[in-house]
Amino acid sequence: MSEMNETENIHKPRLTMHFKVEEEDFIIAGEAASKTKKALQQLGLKQEIVKNIAIIVYEAAMNIVIHANYGEVQVIIVPAYVTVIAQDKGGGIPDVDLAMQEGYSTAPIEAQEMGFGAGMGLPNMKKCSDIMHIETQVGVGTTLKATIYLHQSDAKQVETGAMYV
Ligand SMILES: Nc1ncnc2c1ncn2[C@@H]1O[C@H](COP(=O)(O)OP(=O)(O)OP(=O)(O)O)[C@@H](O)[C@H]1O
Ligand SMILES: [Mg+2]
Repeated sequence: MSEMNETENIHKPRLTMHFKVEEEDFIIAGEAASKTKKALQQLGLKQEIVKNIAIIVYEAAMNIVIHANYGEVQVIIVPAYVTVIAQDKGGGIPDVDLAMQEGYSTAPIEAQEMGFGAGMGLPNMKKCSDIMHIETQVGVGTTLKATIYLHQSDAKQVETGAMYV
């Protein structure tokens, strides 16, 4: 019975953070990333994991500001993993495989002048995650979900997922 409880507990959020991303808000991504970093550090997570999650939060929020209208980024921390969910209302992504390629960008000129638009956000987020998934509808919006396992053994289970089917 106590084992059951432990299994349930690893999926139970111990901290959830929400960041609203409004139109043209170029400040929020940095703020969200630094608040996330602080909270994760306080929970005693490994520096490497904290850094990866902060990058995901920053890039996800920035993509909403630059490529969508508005949305929110949530960081859900459970004992076994951290999930970052970025949801927006916007134009959506017509070709996700293309968008995932390094160097592909449709960032407008104003964003490029501010130093964005290298086309590296999504590929970097994928590198920083154990699992990353994008659901998107053209003309409606995009939901991106990234999961980072907090224990190396879990990350390996994902890579060898077929063994657990
Ligand atoms: N939330 C989103 N809504 C609509 N399109 C998006 C969204 N996120 C990404 N895209 C599309 O995917 C492309 C690649 O995104 P990515 O984050 O890799 O690069 P970028 O934002 O253009 O540049 P960088 O992140 O390097 O500043 C974007 O240029 C855009 O066309
Ligand atoms: Mg980007």
